[in-house]
Amino acid sequence: MTVTLIIGTQWGDEGKGKIVDYYAEKSDYVVRFQGGNNAGHTIKVGSKVYKLHLIPSGVIRGKTGVIGNGVVVDPEVLLQEMEKLENNGIKPRILISDRANVIMPYHKLLDGAEEKYLGKKSIGTTKKGIGPCYSDKIARRGIRINDLLDKNVLEEKLKVLVPLKQKILELYGFEEKLDTREILEKYTGYGQKLKPFVTDTSLELQKAIAEKRNILLEGAQGSMLDIDFGTYPYVTSSNTVAGGACTGSGISPKQIDEIIGVVKAYTTRVGSGPMVTELKDETGKHLQEKGGEFGTTTNRPRRCGWLDLVVLRYTCRISGIDKLAITKLDVLDGLKTIKVCTHYLYGNKKFENFPSNVSILGKCKPVYKEFKGWDCIDKNSKKISDLPREAWEYLRFIEKSLNTPIKIVSVGAEREETIEV
Ligand code: GDP
Ligand code: IMO
Ligand code: MG
Repeated sequence: MTVTLIIGTQWGDEGKGKIVDYYAEKSDYVVRFQGGNNAGHTIKVGSKVYKLHLIPSGVIRGKTGVIGNGVVVDPEVLLQEMEKLENNGIKPRILISDRANVIMPYHKLLDGAEEKYLGKKSIGTTKKGIGPCYSDKIARRGIRINDLLDKNVLEEKLKVLVPLKQKILELYGFEEKLDTREILEKYTGYGQKLKPFVTDTSLELQKAIAEKRNILLEGAQGSMLDIDFGTYPYVTSSNTVAGGACTGSGISPKQIDEIIGVVKAYTTRVGSGPMVTELKDETGKHLQEKGGEFGTTTNRPRRCGWLDLVVLRYTCRISGIDKLAITKLDVLDGLKTIKVCTHYLYGNKKFENFPSNVSILGKCKPVYKEFKGWDCIDKNSKKISDLPREAWEYLRFIEKSLNTPIKIVSVGAEREETIEV
């Protein structure tokens, strides 16, 4: 029996979906524990490409997908995603936590209204209602999955909430009228459809652990988008670091056996906020095109730059990462020189640790170590020694700098394009 946690170590889109799919082969349960359909996890199997937003990636391999209590669930999106998978020949086996909070129509409207209000200072959210839903959860005004199963309870809550949300939307200059009855009917309808899957997932997971099953915890977003440790306020609204896996699933910290940090071989970021190694030149464009760096959820171009060890030292420390999974190494093919940021300069002050203040971060300059590039990685490589010597040296440097061993190297989007070290 093992409980393995997989998280992103940068700003999301590190290739968690692919790595989770790889590990899912030997797992029984794959669990999402935070975030919502702001996530977009891609799994490529032969000619088929699956893009999952809410359902755990393990369902592609027929494993039970658990949507934990820490996830914010848009029931409409969940039902659509289930249907889409079924049309693709996969009948997903899922369990949904009765405690998970529900993304309501007013959350989505508020996400858009708040971003519009912030204008140039906007966070660049996915506008899926994530922030407003988590805000209500923390303010104890949330609707939970349980509430969708009891019309009277939901009605009582909506009677208080809808007029309040209407007022807030009006403050933002929003004119559309929210209809309590319509929301009530629609969401109790979703509740009835989801009812067969709703359960106390923390209890189910503890039973699975007692039965010595293998459990995989699938992180969404990346550590730099963490609400506490990320580049606040340019972050998402959940704890994306390892700690979030426990509160979001009901699995104890003592039960997690291994924490894998997924590291893209360079850096990307979608949305606003500082990114010290960002490249606004031809190399940045090259990474974006070669890496297909366009958001899975919003299709926005991802900002690209060199690997940042200041970020990675920080995120490995916060989450106690045991092993690294390096992805998209093949995207660096053909570059004459590859750079890695070892520390920052703020004026003439050297920063080896990640600063907590975004305005300071925004003024930091990267200091790079240069590596000789390589021509082309053979995607059929099965051992590290099959890689070009220069790639091998690049990986060795990352491993040494982070004092964390590399377990997986991904050299393509396909399942087979994976080297286990
Ligand atoms: P996630 O959000 O962390 O699951 O990552 P995304 O799925 O949003 O983005 C990663 C993208 O890179 C997807 O299109 C993957 O199919 C693709 N990908 C994953 N690993 C590799 C790799 O090693 N090489 C290449 N070229 N693409 C990869
Ligand atoms: P996966 O799981 C990359 C970013 C948004 C925005 C910020 C806040 O695919 O790695 P939100 O809608 O969450 O309130 O937006 O977080 N963001 C992501 N960036 N990958 C993701 O998920 C993301 N989920 C949210 O772009 O900057
Ligand atoms: Mg993604």
